Amino acid sequence: MCGIVGAVAQRNIVPALLEGLQRLEYRGYDSCGLAVIRDHGLERARSTQRVAELAQQVQLEQLSGRLGISHTRWATHGAPATHNAHPHFSGNPPRIAVVHNGIIENYEQLREELSAEGYVFESQTDTEAVAHLVDSLYQGDLFEALQQACRRLVGAYALAVMSSDEPDRLAGARYGSPLVIGVGQNENFLASDALAIAGTTDQIIYLEDGDLVDLSTDTVLIVDRDGNDIDRIVHTVQAHMAAADLGPYRHYMQKEIFEQPRAVSDTLQDIDEIVPELFGAGAAEVFEEIDQVLILACGTSFYAGLTAKYWIESLAKIPTAVEIASEYRYRDSVPNPRTLVVTISQSGETADTLAALKHAKSLGMPHTLTICNVATSAMVRECELSFITRAGVEIGVASTKAFTTQLAALFLLAMALAKSKARLSSDRERELLRKLRHLPKAIAAVLALEPQVMDWADRFARKENALFLGRGMHYPVALEGALKLKEISYIHAEGYPAGELKHGPLALVTEAMPVVTIAPKDELLEKLKSNIQEVHARGGELYVFADADTNIRPENNIHVIRMPEHYGMLSPILHTITLQLLSYHTAVARGTDVDKPRNLAKSVTVE
Ligand code: F6R
Repeated sequence: MCGIVGAVAQRNIVPALLEGLQRLEYRGYDSCGLAVIRDHGLERARSTQRVAELAQQVQLEQLSGRLGISHTRWATHGAPATHNAHPHFSGNPPRIAVVHNGIIENYEQLREELSAEGYVFESQTDTEAVAHLVDSLYQGDLFEALQQACRRLVGAYALAVMSSDEPDRLAGARYGSPLVIGVGQNENFLASDALAIAGTTDQIIYLEDGDLVDLSTDTVLIVDRDGNDIDRIVHTVQAHMAAADLGPYRHYMQKEIFEQPRAVSDTLQDIDEIVPELFGAGAAEVFEEIDQVLILACGTSFYAGLTAKYWIESLAKIPTAVEIASEYRYRDSVPNPRTLVVTISQSGETADTLAALKHAKSLGMPHTLTICNVATSAMVRECELSFITRAGVEIGVASTKAFTTQLAALFLLAMALAKSKARLSSDRERELLRKLRHLPKAIAAVLALEPQVMDWADRFARKENALFLGRGMHYPVALEGALKLKEISYIHAEGYPAGELKHGPLALVTEAMPVVTIAPKDELLEKLKSNIQEVHARGGELYVFADADTNIRPENNIHVIRMPEHYGMLSPILHTITLQLLSYHTAVARGTDVDKPRNLAKSVTVE
């Protein structure tokens, strides 16, 4: 998704802006740009290549300045082309420059109005309308013009704006898209996330929806949505530097897959008893009151939710619905005020999930809880209760450690709900906690299968389609395995509950269709074996991840990797990891840009 870095300083800020853009590359982008004010004039460089190419261009054109804004763009309105890349300028000669993340929904109306006033549009973007709007309202006070402009904007935005007439002033606004202030020594920054400016300052202010900011080198003024001056807390943010280090790994995705024992262990901390307060003050009363769970999420986080449904219904016996956030928010549903609405989000800024949460609240369901990896995110602020996963920053676009830590947190939630409904005996609680504590070691044992998975990946890399089969609580794992493969290797893949094969997808099975099968040693094993035979009998090639003691043996066209142990209810976490490794090594063998797959963004802050 689009990324913003802006700075006002007493030194040349171009190197800091470029470093910031590089740190934001993980979010996904298709063009980038940077503008500075030099000698009271606006200058910019824009590129449809990588930030490294933009840096070369900047050097060639010798851009420098003490005030600047920069941007990585993930195209929504208008193709990824140089003329659509930000910053956008307005004025003749240019005097206003704008970078934007979000979507301005009324941009067509604004475009019409501003065109009638004589403004000429050079791009197809919604952002250019903001630049012209600010220019049309500008009477020598940038902050005032931005304040007035924001009153006209419908949609979501994080904005950084500057004017050539005020070379010591950087203004910004946030509504629906993330924006932070970095407070430095005689310099201040605006950025989409703290990671972007981690090389420069660790003093971060998280802006709230409706906030506007007015920055100079030594002042920070924040005004809330009602126009009142407001103080927001300055947080000291750590640990971002380490995340950006690749260490011995080839890609961030590989690094993050191997960080899972640590990430899960940090997420579980040293919990030795399940208490509702793990999810925040007041959770005990909420858990007692609710009689239904509604999980809202997107993508991989949605699959974490689907897995949690099996756990919550099995352990706590509470009916649980799981909905794709972008669908839920637009359909008629039947609200039950005794519902616990659970959102799951790695970033905590996903526009669809946030909107679905607000929709659920507006329907009269006040009890909300989020499982989220970012403590300061909008999702955490919007929810009554929260559990923060401790995956650490995830840079690879394809979610790995964020997913497994979500699963660990959701398992704790299932236990907490079961306990509050008096459905978890203390023996069972002890046994499950023992399993949870051992989980990091169990994950490490699965990671040791990497060389075997790499052998499969070479063969997989030559395929164009694949099926993933699972049953029961491993069906969501099959869906997640298929998503991971398609997003980073671009191989078309579908996940199915194995029992559904004969109702349609079996028609696809030929020797050209690899069928990845998750075979845990559970009560559905014998049925799964029949499904394996259905594929085998039709000449399909099976790749089976089988638990020990399943008696599934390799034979012609049936390849087997044996999992170290069967892990009971927590088995989906282990089976996910082999599928992550398979996708990763297949993508590497195909030579794709693993950490930044085409067309995708890390945190999807637009609808
Ligand atoms: C896939 C992936 C996405 C995200 C989805 C939701 O690997 O990462 O499907 O899971 O965009 O993002 P969050 O969890 O940030 O709400």
